[in-house]
Amino acid sequence: MEKTFIMIKPDGVERRLMGEIISRIEKKGFKITRAKLVKVSKELAEEHYIEHREKPFFGELIDYILEGEVMAMEVEGDFSIEIMRLMIGHRDPKVALPGTIRGDFAHSLTKNIIHGSDSIESAERELKLWFD
Ligand code: TYD
Ligand code: MG
Repeated sequence: MEKTFIMIKPDGVERRLMGEIISRIEKKGFKITRAKLVKVSKELAEEHYIEHREKPFFGELIDYILEGEVMAMEVEGDFSIEIMRLMIGHRDPKVALPGTIRGDFAHSLTKNIIHGSDSIESAERELKLWFD
């Protein structure tokens, strides 16, 4: 069955949204197969977001991920990669629809509560990076 990597970012943990987010994942019928609360190292944060290393927002993004603990999760279920991306919602707060996690709880482009892998390749890479 398909597995995806989900991370509740520091503002999600800080704002006590872990329960709400985990509840949505479970109610959808997905299974959380691995999970850990971690204070991320700079090396891990930079490796996770390596595709964005040349972008102007990279420094701000890494600083934000290092602000506090994150909840790293492996989520399993049919089409979990695409479906979790739908449930997470668009990164642009002006586009993220109500009913999505970002649409309901975030209004910032950087502090947007949650990450989800965007393809089979990135899910495999991220799960290995965070859990192996
Ligand atoms: P991206 O991979 O484009 O979005 P998503 O998280 O939906 O896959 O970008 C990664 C993160 O980088 C995004 O969640 C928020 C942050 N970001 C910024 O802070 N500023 C920006 O202009 C963009 C495009 C992203
Ligand atoms: Mg992305």
